[in-house]
Amino acid sequence: MALQAGQVAVVTGGASGIGRGICEALAARGVRVVVADIEGDRADAVAQAIRTSGGEARGLTLDVIDPDAWSALAELADSLWDQPVSLLFNNAGVGAGGLVHTTPRRTWDWIFSVNVIGPYNGVTTFAPRMLAHGLPSVIINTGSEHALGLPPTGRGGILAPYTAAKHAVMGYSLCMRRDFAGSNIAAGIVCPGLVQSDIWNAFRNRQPEFGGPRQAPEAFGDTNARGLSWQVAGQRIVDQVEAGSFFIFTNGPDEAEVLEDFTREATAAMAAFRARYDC
Ligand code: NAI
Repeated sequence: MALQAGQVAVVTGGASGIGRGICEALAARGVRVVVADIEGDRADAVAQAIRTSGGEARGLTLDVIDPDAWSALAELADSLWDQPVSLLFNNAGVGAGGLVHTTPRRTWDWIFSVNVIGPYNGVTTFAPRMLAHGLPSVIINTGSEHALGLPPTGRGGILAPYTAAKHAVMGYSLCMRRDFAGSNIAAGIVCPGLVQSDIWNAFRNRQPEFGGPRQAPEAFGDTNARGLSWQVAGQRIVDQVEAGSFFIFTNGPDEAEVLEDFTREATAAMAAFRARYDC
């Protein structure tokens, strides 16, 4: 969908990393941006930087797991400028490692609440509004390469809850594409590879009900340094939104992590099944 100057976007997790890249790339194309983040001060700073560069932006505090906060944000965002929100980027996400059988339940609850219920809250808040106003609209969820396969073991550890949550985001996004087909809403999912960001320190934002904040392990610094810059990631994402892509990528093959590709394995298994039963 061609982006129009003056369109209004909400970007969750817009205060840092990939979200910040999306905010800046949108603003550079004349889109007005609501930078929504649990870190309200950093969201304000990103919005201020956009305004200093000649764009239009507003920073707002949002915890994506809180449906009441979403309702309040929508009321405000739809009335900030002369048109309502027609672009939503459900980008906020948190990462944590752990094995399938030893990761604590509260870690699963936290990861699924932010990474899966967060986008659900965004969609249930804004899709009805978009369907009602009828303007060409887009809702993009940030998944991961981990939504398409399995991450390598080792470096960042095994990320069972994160990988499972990102597969859920993929399933949800595919259902969005089907359910909004024929409407004014286009859906998409971003599947980033390694991008420089603060996700290695995601525990800084862990809510009290999931155990509260804690400091990140230092070990991730080197991995982060090898990532793609968040500015490039943001520009590539917005380019592909403009092109109408459903699957949106950031990293080329040389920049991507090597994954166990279960989709290819499943496709081959389906072909073998059909051959065996001639169906
Ligand atoms: P980041 O930590 O730099 O940015 C995430 C932003 O989300 C932060 O500003 C943080 O304050 C905010 N946030 C965290 N919890 C929140 C909550 N409950 N409500 C609202 N905002 C909240 O990390 P990054 O990497 O930019 O992450 C953005 C998205 O990209 C996430 O969905 C992540 O899973 C995904 N991703 C990142 C990759 C990477 O290599 N950096 C690779 C694949 C996916």
